[in-house]
Amino acid sequence: MLVIGHRGAMGHAPENTLQAIQIALDIGVDWIEIDVYAVENEMVVIHDDDVDRTTNGHGPVMEHSLADLRKLDAGNGQQIPLLSEVVNLIDAKAGLNIELKGPGTAAPVINYLNTQLPAHWAADQILLSSFDHLELLSAKRLSPIYNRAPLFWTGEIDYDFVMRELEAVCINPSLHMVNQEIVDEAHSNGLAVLVYTVNEKADIERMRKMGVDGIFTNFPDRA
Ligand code: G3P
Ligand code: CA
Repeated sequence: MLVIGHRGAMGHAPENTLQAIQIALDIGVDWIEIDVYAVENEMVVIHDDDVDRTTNGHGPVMEHSLADLRKLDAGNGQQIPLLSEVVNLIDAKAGLNIELKGPGTAAPVINYLNTQLPAHWAADQILLSSFDHLELLSAKRLSPIYNRAPLFWTGEIDYDFVMRELEAVCINPSLHMVNQEIVDEAHSNGLAVLVYTVNEKADIERMRKMGVDGIFTNFPDRA
């Protein structure tokens, strides 16, 4: 079962910071997950659509200039990172799951990957995910070489869309949604299952027994 550091390793350091990502790397995660927004054509790594919860600033991410976002303290004196800084820190030593969180992120993320991803990274070390499945479809149309994973919080999974339109490699359901039937059906369709966010040891074991292929966790050391 793959261990994916959630927002770096947010149980150990401020989420989506280089510090949290370094801790995840030190623990030895297989993959690292981050959330991105595109501001002034640059990808910034932050989860919420405003900066209030995770920084010392106020207001919507998209109403800030890039320079102002970079002046904020995202915890422990850390800056809001750029996608390029995250890529350089990970240095292909783990996979990188980029969640397309902000509006219109597919095009700038694909542009970054196609023009700036260092050559020693393989395309399959990148996984694009999103709750916005149409944004993932845009990513596929722009460049199909980066694997895609639709996120599901609840509800039905449209396997026809997931497999034939998105041509996804996996589905990423929430912990409260996932069950044996979903895992088995996904597997019978040739899709892997990555479950978020699995922090308790009992849940980690339950996911292992269910045969899920990977978990997102704030505490990768527990897995
Ligand atoms: O990608 C898994 C998980 O990160 C999705 O939920 O809200 O933590 O971005 P959220
Ligand atoms: Ca996320």
